[in-house]
Amino acid sequence: MSDDRTAVAERIEDLRRQIEHHNYLYYVLDQPEISDAEYDQLMRELEELEAAHPELITPDSPTQRVGAPPSSAFQPVRHLEPMFSLDNAFSFDELEAWRERVLKILGRDPDAYSCEPKIDGLAVSVVYERGVLVRGATRGDGIVGEDITANVRTIKAIPLRLRGDPPAVLEVRGEIYMPVSAFEALNREREERGEPPFVNPRNAAAGSVRQKDPAVTASRNLSNWMYHLGHVEGGPRLERHSESLAWLRELGLRVNPANRTLHTIDEIEEYARWAEANRHSLDYEIDGVVIKVDRFDDQRALGFTARAPRWAIAYKLPAEEKTTKLLSIEVNVGRTGVVTPYAVLEPVFVGGVTVTTATLHNEREIHRKDIRPGDWVVVRRAGDVIPEIVGPVLSRRPKGLRRWHMPKTCPFCGNPIVKDEHGVRAYCTGGYACPSRLREWLVYFGSRSAMDIDGLGYKTVDLLMREGLVRDPADIFLLQPDDLLRFEGWGPKKVENLMTAIAAAKDRPLWRLLVGLGIDHVGPTVAKLLARKFGSIDDIMSASEDELAAIDGIGPEIARSIVAWFGDEENRKLIDKLRSAGVRMAEPVEEVEGPSLEGVTLVFTGSLERFTRDEAKEAVEARGGKVSSTVSGKTTAVVVGRDPGSKLAKAEAQGVPIIDEDTFAALLERGPEAIGGS
Ligand code: IVH
Repeated sequence: MSDDRTAVAERIEDLRRQIEHHNYLYYVLDQPEISDAEYDQLMRELEELEAAHPELITPDSPTQRVGAPPSSAFQPVRHLEPMFSLDNAFSFDELEAWRERVLKILGRDPDAYSCEPKIDGLAVSVVYERGVLVRGATRGDGIVGEDITANVRTIKAIPLRLRGDPPAVLEVRGEIYMPVSAFEALNREREERGEPPFVNPRNAAAGSVRQKDPAVTASRNLSNWMYHLGHVEGGPRLERHSESLAWLRELGLRVNPANRTLHTIDEIEEYARWAEANRHSLDYEIDGVVIKVDRFDDQRALGFTARAPRWAIAYKLPAEEKTTKLLSIEVNVGRTGVVTPYAVLEPVFVGGVTVTTATLHNEREIHRKDIRPGDWVVVRRAGDVIPEIVGPVLSRRPKGLRRWHMPKTCPFCGNPIVKDEHGVRAYCTGGYACPSRLREWLVYFGSRSAMDIDGLGYKTVDLLMREGLVRDPADIFLLQPDDLLRFEGWGPKKVENLMTAIAAAKDRPLWRLLVGLGIDHVGPTVAKLLARKFGSIDDIMSASEDELAAIDGIGPEIARSIVAWFGDEENRKLIDKLRSAGVRMAEPVEEVEGPSLEGVTLVFTGSLERFTRDEAKEAVEARGGKVSSTVSGKTTAVVVGRDPGSKLAKAEAQGVPIIDEDTFAALLERGPEAIGGS
């Protein structure tokens, strides 16, 4: 190398070190020492030198974060060590029970616990070889993740090169997250551009990391905390988790300064209370506190269950509550015509999402809680649970607020709203003419739990209704390709896909049609009972309330609802229309081989070799027997497979006969005599 080139190479290396150092100060320590302009100046000089000497560019240069072109798929990668999940404790009692288990196994208390906030982000595993970032992967199933290296490289909080004395191989686990401030800024931008906002920082982070184009990831201001070692080759001897965190920090990785090494359960609970009280003053969302037994030899002694380490636990923070204003109470008409009130709220960020509406169930519930439009109300949301209104803040109630009443007529079709005999549920009497009911019904009809028509979501249903093409579910089967081809965005391929899905739906099992009809109280379980017992729509239609109610699993209320549904003129016309459209109306009558298991109730525990649970259940039910999930006096026998659960002990305690898989197979072949019954 000429002297000139050596000088350039040295300057480039010098610039890289300086930039990495300032990245570290800025992103990891949050203590910048130079201005943005000075930093930009260093970057610019490096970019210019590299442009003039492209042969000197290396992938770990700070200029190379967004290097890879967009890719079409994330390749699977096997983690060097599995990524475990954690067991949860939802109360201090459960936390103390965990500590008791630890105490019992170790024979003493651990001398220390390492605790830190549980970040509500996206788990990542990053591999460094000789200090250089070579791979980033999602958790996947814990064994194999997805290769997101190109995207991980764009996250400035994750160094491309480690500092200090890196080991030959370091696999490190942590969380990628979107700071709350970045989330709010991103959503403001998205709304300005007319794009839908992200519901919470976690979804925004996940969406940003799973981008095919790393440039998009780079624009999203993601950050990271590292919290756990995976596979390590050639590192220092470490005896404690807390030491490993200190080491990761020395290597230039971002380790949460809120972590603490604590010694007693009281200190841990104090820490959890701190986390709960301060969760909103952090610039990242947390949903709990992770507690690990600190000493590695204690961890080894404790080991793992099938799912998670015994030496760690996630204490989950309780559901979040926020106060907001109840702007109004509106109603929805669902697929069966039931009218459900819901709250329209002043938007409030609670439990990780912005909540604008909450269901209110029914008028009685609203009066019981004494919630009135205009009230300040407490909104609660836990995890993925639908937000609920806990109650009004009476001390803040403005004067003169009126109680809410169910409207007398449907806001969608103008027909009267009536109450059921208990005065609780309200129904729209508009029937097929109510656009809200029809919309919900059609979407449900096509959904996966009913007729499973791929492509028949809200968007398509809205179009079909707007164009007057569909006025009831049978119209779906009368659609012609030409009806659709004239719409924008409906090319031949899309039309063909929908037509194929519709054609396939004509031949679905009877129970699916029954579910799709939207009869109140008839979901998949009841529909399967009906289909099995009667075998055809005609036989169900002509069954009396008594005949229906005599079926195990169908009570008088369901029976009444079925008879009422088929008693309706409009519904019977629908059945005729579906029939002439070629929709299957009967089950092929299945001749079940083998004896009757009428009167036999089995409970399964553990896994069988020759049957899946569903197959075993179907085989029993096809012979007229029943399968229950709980052991009781009515249980004929408990079938015990591999790794049985607590039901085995229950059966033993109650003296219920216990049979193995071979005996179960014999029972299917020969009937109850196989187990000495009649
Ligand atoms: S420790 C062997 N620490 O929680 C245990 N996990 O349910 C290694 N998580 O998939 C995990 N913040 O994505 C740990 N400070 C933290 C965490 C954390 C969030 C996530 C992680 C993991 C899940 C476990």
